[in-house]
Amino acid sequence: MGSPVKSWWCMAVLLSLYLLVTGSGEEKETFIVQVEHEAMPSIFPTHRHWYESSLADTSSIIHTYQTVFHGFSARLSPAEAQKLQSLSHVISLIPEQVRHLHTTRSPHFLGLNTADRAGLLKETDFGSDLVIGVIDTGISPESQSFNDRDLGLPPPNWKGQCIAGEHFPSTSCNRKLIGARYFCAGYEATNGKMNNTLEYRSPRDSDGHGTHTASIAAGRYVYPASIMGYAKGMASGMAPKARLAVYKVCWNAGCYDSDILAAFDAAVADGVDVISLSVGGVVVPYHLDVIAVGAFGASEAGVFVSASAGNGGPGGLTVTNVAPWVTTVGAGTIDRDFPADVVLGNGKVIAGVSVYGGPGLTPGRMYPLVYAGSDGYSSSLCLEGSLEPNSVKGKIVVCDRGVNLRAQKGQVVKNAGGVGMILINGPFDGEGLVADCHVLPATSVGAAGGDVIRRYISLGSQLRSPPTATIIFKGTRVGIRPAPKVASFSARGPNPESGEILKPDVIAPGLNILAAWPTTVPPSALPSDRRRSEFNILSGTSMACPHVSGLAALLKAAHPDWTPAAIRSALVTTAYTLDISGGGPLLDESTNNVSSVFDYGAGHVLPDKAMDPGLIYDISTYDYVDFLCNSNYSAHSIRVITRMAAADCSGAKRAGHAANLNYPSLSAVFHQSPNGHPNNISTHFIRTVTNVGDPNSVYKVTISPPPATHVTVQPTTLAFRRLGQKLNFLVRLQTLAVQLSPGTSTVKTGSISWSDAKHTVTSPLLLTIHQPL
Ligand SMILES: *[C@@H]1O[C@H](CO)[C@@H](O)[C@H](O)[C@H]1NC(C)=O
Ligand SMILES: *[C@@H]1O[C@H](CO)[C@@H](O)[C@H](O)[C@H]1NC(C)=O
Ligand SMILES: *[C@@H]1O[C@H](CO)[C@@H](O)[C@H](O)[C@H]1NC(C)=O
Ligand SMILES: *[C@@H]1O[C@H](CO)[C@@H](O)[C@H](O)[C@H]1NC(C)=O
Repeated sequence: MGSPVKSWWCMAVLLSLYLLVTGSGEEKETFIVQVEHEAMPSIFPTHRHWYESSLADTSSIIHTYQTVFHGFSARLSPAEAQKLQSLSHVISLIPEQVRHLHTTRSPHFLGLNTADRAGLLKETDFGSDLVIGVIDTGISPESQSFNDRDLGLPPPNWKGQCIAGEHFPSTSCNRKLIGARYFCAGYEATNGKMNNTLEYRSPRDSDGHGTHTASIAAGRYVYPASIMGYAKGMASGMAPKARLAVYKVCWNAGCYDSDILAAFDAAVADGVDVISLSVGGVVVPYHLDVIAVGAFGASEAGVFVSASAGNGGPGGLTVTNVAPWVTTVGAGTIDRDFPADVVLGNGKVIAGVSVYGGPGLTPGRMYPLVYAGSDGYSSSLCLEGSLEPNSVKGKIVVCDRGVNLRAQKGQVVKNAGGVGMILINGPFDGEGLVADCHVLPATSVGAAGGDVIRRYISLGSQLRSPPTATIIFKGTRVGIRPAPKVASFSARGPNPESGEILKPDVIAPGLNILAAWPTTVPPSALPSDRRRSEFNILSGTSMACPHVSGLAALLKAAHPDWTPAAIRSALVTTAYTLDISGGGPLLDESTNNVSSVFDYGAGHVLPDKAMDPGLIYDISTYDYVDFLCNSNYSAHSIRVITRMAAADCSGAKRAGHAANLNYPSLSAVFHQSPNGHPNNISTHFIRTVTNVGDPNSVYKVTISPPPATHVTVQPTTLAFRRLGQKLNFLVRLQTLAVQLSPGTSTVKTGSISWSDAKHTVTSPLLLTIHQPL
């Protein structure tokens, strides 16, 4: 967001920064180059020929794009980049970003319970015409979750392919997995040829993440499913009959923008209905963000894009993938847990979690306990080579969370002769626990429990009574209350790019999720781990996102004419903010305090209600253009995002402000004058709702105003006479100015709901007041 000048300025800074860093100008870097598609002189047989003609070295082209974007990616020296920039048919050069998977690399669980969906899915072909495209690390096609029993031919308009490659013959696809492609040219352009002993040049998954996310979105029913005896039961994705197409873009060194854009381009051309993207990076303005640009093209083509919010929580302003045409998914906990408690020598019991499944500790025996961070130990983090075998042999070792993989700390302890490990959270992680598939008896405890354990150890050494402990593994426990909570790692708002758009949109299950896993990859991801499993438990917004992708496919199956914005509206306006057990507000797992809209957006998704939301807030491509205008994007930047040559912002600016986008949540941002007299603050939102419930229905408004805020809605009753009918309403909001220290802000939240006899359509309403420096 910025003035028209700012977007250009931003690009100029990026380019000049880059020139500065690369000095001599010999270093090449990848750029995604947007060109004026129509401007190709007729002498060129294809766009690629034309693109090549503008480059000295034609081999520097990585991908060409023609569906969601027009142009190509290439390795360019600064001089070449500058030359291209000066060509009249070149619209923009976007520097490449490297993205990462949004998993916390931990254990598992599955989505909303089978009973919830049984009515919808029972033995029907529901959803079988829908295709979910998963942009990720590829797939392990042998998994039972991807069997094609009882599935008919792929949908008639399907244009995708099964691209063969290393350990992935074209017979790897079936009527479930109907498409598979891989994109590594961008990755290899930066990193050199991949090492084929470490990863496969094909859609085959050498990591596990893509197999896991694909099966969450659309895995078939598999029974029994479990990992090391934990979480035993039926595994199934959200849309078990939907088809899958995988687009592998993530490799050992990350996921490269040029490849990601190629995947969007192919997925939309192939004819997917939903794109699931559990990948993210740094938030930048939308015209510099290849995921935002690709997702815009997808959304324009009617493809729903859900993306993970990121795992940067619980701190604020951490949410990523924030464009308003993307559905941004945070992570919640579920009602299942894997308790593994620590019992200290003084009798105190500290609750922990684990999915360790090997030989346990000797029952009834207490083991010597050491803290790796005590005097004489070099590392509280249990980093590789940091533990002295003489000090840890035969003991349970306490390690701090952070820096290296959690399961890897266990390997370090094991290698040094330790018999068990207690992993403790720092204050930042708080009480959020992820269960890991450890290689030795180990458990994770929260920050408060960690303090108790450390105090016990240091007191013991003062009193010369050697500290002892054991770990008691209790298997799988269900019915945990309260649930859901916002997972501690789940990235939080406010939206760093567009304060007027509440992100994340919703939360979905993302802690300890059981889903399919390649039998070629150890469940702990440690090369030394010889165990294999067809399922694994992982945590992250990576796992939350495909729940929503699967759900979106079900919604699209039930309502083929719904736009991506309509599908999101249904998810948002029916989400819940009270926990399922006691009706208390959703808690934040990191503190057990009440969470807020910046943590969960509109709330936790509720599939049954989303199927029949009553009203939807729809958004057209032109509405997004108006939004970009009102967010002060320049005509040039808007063109980069939307490919619309001459966006005229004058009309949009007259008509309103960024918060007037017909979004299903309402968020206003105020900047108080720095030293002027504080005045009352007022604003309005215009919204349009479309009737998708009963033809004749009358909705009445219920307002829960934010504190000390006066809210009116006009009209207060909406009377519909037919399906598809649209009615407008106006929300006016007035609040008193507040005294704030310079550079701080305050947020007030409320909601408005429309209800008829059958439906309740709820939108969060929030108000952010900034005091400038
Ligand atoms: C590929 O990785 C393997 C295993 O780490 C290593 O032994 C081998 O040297 C690598 N090959 C190349 C060409 O880097
Ligand atoms: C949690 O709530 C308590 C009581 O309201 C408050 O004192 C504490 O600061 C809160 N903790 C955080 C991390 O917000
Ligand atoms: C856009 O610029 C105008 C004029 O400078 C300003 O009042 C408005 O707050 C800006 N809008 C956004 C969303 O930044
Ligand atoms: C601000 O609003 C309050 C309550 O609505 C009203 O009593 C007061 O007169 C208003 N003040 C100004 C300066 O408009």
